[in-house]
Amino acid sequence: MKKILLKMLICPACLPDERRLNSNIVQEQEGDIFTGTLTCPECGKIYPIQDGTAFLDPSPLNETEKTGAKYETVPVLSSYLWSHYNDILNDSDRCAYGVWAALMGKYPGFAVDAGCAVGRFTFEMSRKSEFVIGVDKSVSFIQAARELMINRRINVALQQEGFLTTEETIYLSETWNSNKVEFIVGDAQALPFRSGTFSTLASLNVIDKVPSPIRHLKEMNRVSREKDAQFLFSDPFSWSTDIADEKDWLGGTDGGPYSGRGMDNIRALFNGKKGGLSPEWRIEKDGHVWWKIRNHANHFELIRSCFVKAAR
Ligand SMILES: C[S@@+](CC[C@H](N)C(=O)[O-])C[C@H]1O[C@@H](n2cnc3c(N)ncnc32)[C@H](O)[C@@H]1O
Repeated sequence: MKKILLKMLICPACLPDERRLNSNIVQEQEGDIFTGTLTCPECGKIYPIQDGTAFLDPSPLNETEKTGAKYETVPVLSSYLWSHYNDILNDSDRCAYGVWAALMGKYPGFAVDAGCAVGRFTFEMSRKSEFVIGVDKSVSFIQAARELMINRRINVALQQEGFLTTEETIYLSETWNSNKVEFIVGDAQALPFRSGTFSTLASLNVIDKVPSPIRHLKEMNRVSREKDAQFLFSDPFSWSTDIADEKDWLGGTDGGPYSGRGMDNIRALFNGKKGGLSPEWRIEKDGHVWWKIRNHANHFELIRSCFVKAAR
């Protein structure tokens, strides 16, 4: 973990209190902490840094849970690597992440990509921000993103059919700067950052994947600057009771405070209505991006992810 992060980090388990973490660096190479711990002086929780990866999820999955967790499996990792870097793998369609990135301006300050998966949007933001942090709950995704960050390449076994795979290599574009990027394991509902840290924020296809969507949105708002900030939100609103109780969805129901369509509720929340975000955001642009996921050579999912690009 790059040392620049130390000044931004707080204990995610103590939120809403913001407690700075004490660092104990065991092994360090050129400003990168390879082995060490971050400890909360208040609650005593210890967050390890192992092989350069910082584990700042306050309630990580245990080993048994990890085995069954969708985002930790090899086929899903390979599917997301393809989805994030399909243009580099010579797919004829434009990569959705390039379309999302084009919506963002160059803002001075730091950026956060919550639920970054294997890091494409995080790398894209290295061209537009001073420094970018990708945060994801999946250890496999963060390790793949860090491998790309460090080696600038990763091998991926793309499923062709049944058990048949072909090995491909993804090489990072030279226009993305690894020195301005870091990836950590964390929870998008309890971000380990001080309030007001970021001027650029992204939540892409995450809100329907967390148990408390409103908590995620409010966390993004907390870690954002109160002004001179931009926020890209995008989601297909695939609500599921496997992930969140129906009462916690921000759309897709006909009762409760967030009845109706997800996008209408998101707009209202950005505008500070329905107990939403403060200071309120100004929606600059909205629309949708076609996002493609590859399952195997002859099976792709095409997802309409609806976005708002907001600023304040
Ligand atoms: C549908 S994927 C979208 C990933 C990426 N933003 C993209 O658009 O490709 C959802 C991502 O959210 C991550 N995720 C799920 N729950 C999370 C949580 N509580 N905190 C952080 N990341 C989470 C998953 O590991 C996965 O990478």
